[in-house]
Amino acid sequence: MSIAILGIESSCDDTSASVICDGVLRSNIIANQSVHEAYGGVVPELASRAHQQNIIPVVNEAIRRSGLKKEELSAVAFTRGPGLMGSLLVGTSFAKGLALGLNIPMIDINHLHAHVMAHFIKESPDDNHQPHFPFLCLLVSGGNSQIILVKSYNQMEVIGQTIDDAAGEAFDKCAKVMGLGYPGGPVVDRLSKEGDRKAFTLNKPHIPGYDYSFSGLKTSFLYLLRDELKKDPDFIEHRKNDLCASLAYTVVEILMDKLRKAVKEYGINEVAVAGGVSANSSLRTAFEEHAIKYGWKIHVPKFSFTTDNAAMVAITGYYKYLAGEFCPANLPPFSRVIV
Ligand code: KG4
Repeated sequence: MSIAILGIESSCDDTSASVICDGVLRSNIIANQSVHEAYGGVVPELASRAHQQNIIPVVNEAIRRSGLKKEELSAVAFTRGPGLMGSLLVGTSFAKGLALGLNIPMIDINHLHAHVMAHFIKESPDDNHQPHFPFLCLLVSGGNSQIILVKSYNQMEVIGQTIDDAAGEAFDKCAKVMGLGYPGGPVVDRLSKEGDRKAFTLNKPHIPGYDYSFSGLKTSFLYLLRDELKKDPDFIEHRKNDLCASLAYTVVEILMDKLRKAVKEYGINEVAVAGGVSANSSLRTAFEEHAIKYGWKIHVPKFSFTTDNAAMVAITGYYKYLAGEFCPANLPPFSRVIV
């Protein structure tokens, strides 16, 4: 009998639902929330309200496009956290209600694990690009920057993480002070392609182990703007491309320095990247260069699986289903990292 998992993602500002059948993607619907653009960042209260509006149409559409009837679902997997509590409550409550109504099990999913598991989504039955265990995964998103040792589908160990800002936050906050809108990461990426990455020298942290820090970089970027704007009030406009290129170059250097160290010390050369920032072109280029220079076997996700989506939740749910890992109906969401 087929195993069909409905995945529901609502941790931040994307409402998404997906159906994965026997490990193969059937549908993946994402409703973005443009309401936050005017505020320069996600407004939690507005995010929860938008999830309430979107959740039923998004889930309905995911099931419709899967070609299955809701009665054919084997389980409902939902993002339990980390994320915004109000947003998580919408997806979690809906998933529980649906699972109870259909009398099928529910599976709680850690959002960060799901980003890593995006590498196991099959778009067709003969799709066999998946990484082999163990591998290292650089998880870079708006809220997290981690190096994860992935031992199996259900076993992951965080060996390094940011002690302050995440890589995506560094992009977004620097973009904001340049007036580039929100989220600024993709805009910085686009503008950086026309700039000189060595134009400005920004701070790189010196912290031990595999941990990251991006607050010093952010501060040095702010100081650079402050000093240069005194000399030229149109400095940002004049040097936008060079500023973005230097920022992207430094963020990627910081990320890759620690990843290289982990690859060397763990003796694992199969390396993946996941999360929203994995869409960044400089980071993707750095991965390709490392594959050539150091013989890494790299795994870079499709763009549609980099940012928040429910397909990654459904595939994580699929492997938890196979392992018999279900959750009780009284399990609450969690907003901060607890694992
Ligand atoms: O994984 P994600 O969708 O959400 C979280 O779970 O945090 O990541 C969103 C982050 C934002 O900070 C956004 O600016 C960044 O990913 N991002 C990028 C790019 N595309 C998205 N950062 C740099 N370059 C990009 N092309």
